[in-house]
Amino acid sequence: MTITFFARKIIFQMNVRIIKVICIFQTLLAVFFTGCSKKTYSAGGESGFIPVKSEKLILGFSQIGSESAWRSRNTQSIYEAAEENNIQIIFDDAQQKQENQLKAIRSFIVYQVDVIAFVPIVEDGWDNVLKEAKEAGIPVILVDRQINADPSLYAGFLGENGLEEGRNAARFMLEKFTDKDSVNIMEFSGTENSSVVRERAKGFREIIENDSRFKIIGSENGDFLRSRGKEITQDLIQKAMDSGIFSKDSLYYEGQKIDVIYSHNDSMTLGLLDTLETYGITTDKTVIISIDAEQKSIDALTQGKLNCVVECNPNLGPVLMKLVRLIAEGRPIPRVTYIEEKVFTEKDDFSEYKPRGY
Ligand code: AHR
Repeated sequence: MTITFFARKIIFQMNVRIIKVICIFQTLLAVFFTGCSKKTYSAGGESGFIPVKSEKLILGFSQIGSESAWRSRNTQSIYEAAEENNIQIIFDDAQQKQENQLKAIRSFIVYQVDVIAFVPIVEDGWDNVLKEAKEAGIPVILVDRQINADPSLYAGFLGENGLEEGRNAARFMLEKFTDKDSVNIMEFSGTENSSVVRERAKGFREIIENDSRFKIIGSENGDFLRSRGKEITQDLIQKAMDSGIFSKDSLYYEGQKIDVIYSHNDSMTLGLLDTLETYGITTDKTVIISIDAEQKSIDALTQGKLNCVVECNPNLGPVLMKLVRLIAEGRPIPRVTYIEEKVFTEKDDFSEYKPRGY
């Protein structure tokens, strides 16, 4: 049995290596051939870029990693749509590091791809690399997250409206607590300095700022990770135990009972639920609001473990490919394209839910 296992493992690793070599070879070929007939993007065309002449478009795409099921679906959507649209992708996984994204974008410039798209892990620090792309005449599309930079350095943004997601989370809470005098909120937030976290936090606060009943008593950075959701919750429980206020039906932060948990993504929420289950803590007295709408969190909503799930739609691939084509044809694209998103709540008719697929 062990021998079969190791044999399978070796065959798998060999296959992975062979696939990698084929991918590199394909990329080099593509780069070589497009390089021969290289278009130059400069002022021209309605979009400000001269249309691409090569037959198969090449898109350099820098993804930030695979920290959540949402992210994996986002990557898959982009791959699928590229294939359907006959667009070749040069993909790079930055493994949560901005420096890796900068390297990837620079390598796309060297390859002279037709269009660059990337998910900016954080908001700042992109100006220089975007200037380099502009000088090389390669248009750039921001995907999923926004940046702080001169807008003339990129063609447009495609993704979620993080402000609206935060507002929707708070709107649900406002409706939920019409007759409570004070509501203590604990926030689990994601990647520090990312646009999506800033927006989700801002939109949420915007809605509650004029209602003094709502107080954000604590905010912890869970990096959008399930493991961090578990850790933060364990820490809350441990501190409650240490101060003698632990109970099986509530969570506490610095001695105060938590009425609402506002979690910036499903991975952290699922980590929270894991820990609650471990300690046998029920969620009846805690309103939990999450963002993303992965299948597992929709399941938790239908089981009464969550109260509201604000969708963040990862299926950006099809629209991205349309934008890539438009730019390549020298046509303008909108500065901002928001993807459609819903809100799922405990009041919904669950029989109308369709499988999420991720
Ligand atoms: O930027 C989008 C966020 O990043 C998603 O909400 C989260 O799950 C992901 O990792």
